[in-house]
Amino acid sequence: MNEQVLNDTARAMVADGRGILAADESTGTIEKRFKSIGVENTEPNRRTYRDMLFTTPGFEQHTSGVILFEETLFQSALDGTPFPKLLASKGVIPGIKVDKGAKPLAGAPGETVTEGLDGLRERLAKYHEAGARFAKWRAVITIGEGIPSDTCIHTNAHALARYAALCQEAGIVPIVEPEVLMDADNTLEVCAQVTDRTLEAVFQELYLQRVLLEGMILKPNMVISGKKCPIQADRETVARETLRVLKRRVPAAVPGIAFLSGGQSDEDATAHLDIMNKLGPNPWKLTFSYGRALQAAALKAWSGSNADAGRKAHLHRAKMNGLAAQGKWEAGLEKAA
Ligand code: 13P
Repeated sequence: MNEQVLNDTARAMVADGRGILAADESTGTIEKRFKSIGVENTEPNRRTYRDMLFTTPGFEQHTSGVILFEETLFQSALDGTPFPKLLASKGVIPGIKVDKGAKPLAGAPGETVTEGLDGLRERLAKYHEAGARFAKWRAVITIGEGIPSDTCIHTNAHALARYAALCQEAGIVPIVEPEVLMDADNTLEVCAQVTDRTLEAVFQELYLQRVLLEGMILKPNMVISGKKCPIQADRETVARETLRVLKRRVPAAVPGIAFLSGGQSDEDATAHLDIMNKLGPNPWKLTFSYGRALQAAALKAWSGSNADAGRKAHLHRAKMNGLAAQGKWEAGLEKAA
């Protein structure tokens, strides 16, 4: 394991004013996104859409890396350049989603465990050869009646650490993503408790499995009210509570934390990140690794054929989040655009 290479990559992923574009929707997830704009989910359409995102002029100023789905890693842009090569030529690090999705967890009704460890060592070698320098594995923790169980939290934490150790062996920086979902009716306090429990278990497993903290990035949820909760905490509270939990559970050796957006509105995702950075200095870099909050506007503007409008919308959100990663965003910038 080359610790210096891992640390250099991890630090580049959270470089000043830059964050990660999560464009690694599985074929099933992109189907849902395309359906919303009436576009058929075909291989050429997926390629054209991602080509639009990755050829956005200037997005690389705000984007350190892109998480790709396996299909995209081995696809070429419309001009024939392999996607990883196109990204690398802009100074954007290619990454790869390596998990095989969240599957029902035996003995734990309503809960899932993320699969994909079998054969992972061999796949990682192939991905590295194709240009991937970081990876992502998403564990899903659901809040509900009597859940999450310790069974769910610990099996997912164990799998995350096994994945992370294998990545580092292959010279690939693991993004460790334990996502506590925000879909339920729970209060922010419950989200704080569950996120705290989850991160405690994750870092315990990372320690037991000898994962190099300097060579990883954490991708957590923010501490936020459930979508169906009648009381919605304000932005300042979300930012303060998220920082409180992270400071208790994430060692300062971790170079950076890149949040998921998880179904927040585009502007909330930007504002929360911005406030957390304004509240700094913090022990780690805080940036974004957004999927929906970076792509929703671009997807709609593109709608299957309007590449220029899609690029414009993408660049705007990338720019806003790049500012938020430095605590330099202001709501007025949204209206001005
Ligand atoms: P969202 O920002 O849409 O939550 O997606 C980020 C991601 O990569 C989830 O794994």
